[in-house]
Amino acid sequence: MVLAGCSNDPSPAARPIGATPSLTPSAGQRVVSQSLVAKPTTLDLGGVTVDTWAYGDTAPGPLLRAKAGDMLRVTVDNQLPDDTTIHWHGIRLRNVADGVPGQTQDPIKPGTSYTYEFTAPDPGTYFFHPHVGVQLDRGLYAPLIIDDPSEPGRYDAEWVVVLDDWIDGTGTTPDEVFTKLTGGQGGGMDHGSMEGMDHGAMRGMARDGAQPFGDAGDVAYPHYVINGRAPADPDVLRAKPGQRVRMRVINAGSDTIFAVAMGGHQMTVTATDGWPVEPVTTDAFYIGMGERYDVEVTLDDGVFPLVATPVGKKGIARALVRTGPGRAPADDTTPRELSGQVLMGTDLRPAESSRLDPKDPDDQQMLHLSGQMQPYSWAVNGKPFGQNTPISLTRGNRVRLRMMNMTTMTHPMHLHGHTFALPNGLRKDTVLIAPMRSIDVDLDADNPGDWMAHCHNIYHAEAGMMIALNYVK
Ligand code: C2O
Ligand code: CU
Repeated sequence: MVLAGCSNDPSPAARPIGATPSLTPSAGQRVVSQSLVAKPTTLDLGGVTVDTWAYGDTAPGPLLRAKAGDMLRVTVDNQLPDDTTIHWHGIRLRNVADGVPGQTQDPIKPGTSYTYEFTAPDPGTYFFHPHVGVQLDRGLYAPLIIDDPSEPGRYDAEWVVVLDDWIDGTGTTPDEVFTKLTGGQGGGMDHGSMEGMDHGAMRGMARDGAQPFGDAGDVAYPHYVINGRAPADPDVLRAKPGQRVRMRVINAGSDTIFAVAMGGHQMTVTATDGWPVEPVTTDAFYIGMGERYDVEVTLDDGVFPLVATPVGKKGIARALVRTGPGRAPADDTTPRELSGQVLMGTDLRPAESSRLDPKDPDDQQMLHLSGQMQPYSWAVNGKPFGQNTPISLTRGNRVRLRMMNMTTMTHPMHLHGHTFALPNGLRKDTVLIAPMRSIDVDLDADNPGDWMAHCHNIYHAEAGMMIALNYVK
């Protein structure tokens, strides 16, 4: 295959970066400061106790919230026994704050701290997580919300709903999971029938055609959680009957696409990855790793399950919505909405305000996704990250990325530092690409630096399904 415009040297795995230049707030700019401690801790997931790593003593970590245009100044104290960084997923920030070790900063060594300073220009629902190894699959993640000062606010209450697949501290760690995956053992792990790499079962699921994502994940997790709680002792979201609630749903999972529904309710999707869409009312919706959906729901009177089922896997994540007295539904209740219309994000249409200015692309670049389970290897443009050739971007260009999935799995492809537009104009920073599908996305190269595009399945990314996009002018 001939790749246009790829003339850089292959990216070295990690080069020394040196001190990060500090940022001075502009006149009148508000500064939101927060400190985080990344550390080993013990968490109660609701009937399950795990030793893990988290930001403080909760997972999700503390909500970070600012207004569009604010400067964020976040100090991270690394008390982990390992290097770490933080990536501010989806934020169109200055390159030096992007949190990619060896590309935008040196890793934060154990026992040291580091300060991130950046302006968050766009309102929306985001999150943050490390960009080192498979640390995302620990408890190291937290929501990041950028408010729009001019938004009308058509809702009475707001809930942040963070989904995760959980294995850390259940007799194994994400590092061990990755070692087993890459060790070519592939046939299941030794701590219980639901754990390990349940791949044959997922292929079976793919054949029945019930969901559009084929082989959706590599790891069968022992637990799926909403806001850090397992179904046996779920998070309870409270409001009053008749109130209109805005849910900001974030998939912080490492290897799991979820289908989300609220028993007895329809949901109206209003934004994805921070960008307003033409509102669509649906029974349920899919959300891939790294994606976010804002939905609005008018609440009925009673107690209802808010459920996220892992696509192609066994298990359930659940919270409870309570607007009145009443007994909670059984913890394995699957709302019938999940067998109704399940919205695919790529079927959404952008709000007018989310569209890029009409323009033909100046340049086209290919991201050819390849790989398989046995041996476990994943690549972009024929080689794993570190051996593949960075894509060159020229400042000012409208660039079309043609992302071609040549595998039997779905990959949530995420781009740093920019958002892109799908062919129908939908703006996103993370998009699910089903097996053997290809998607063209357009971006404006308006944020110079060295960036990443990668699969947000953290095991695929760590195995090499990642590529650098470097501004050359
Ligand atoms: Cu949330 Cu490079 O990713
Ligand atoms: Cu992938």
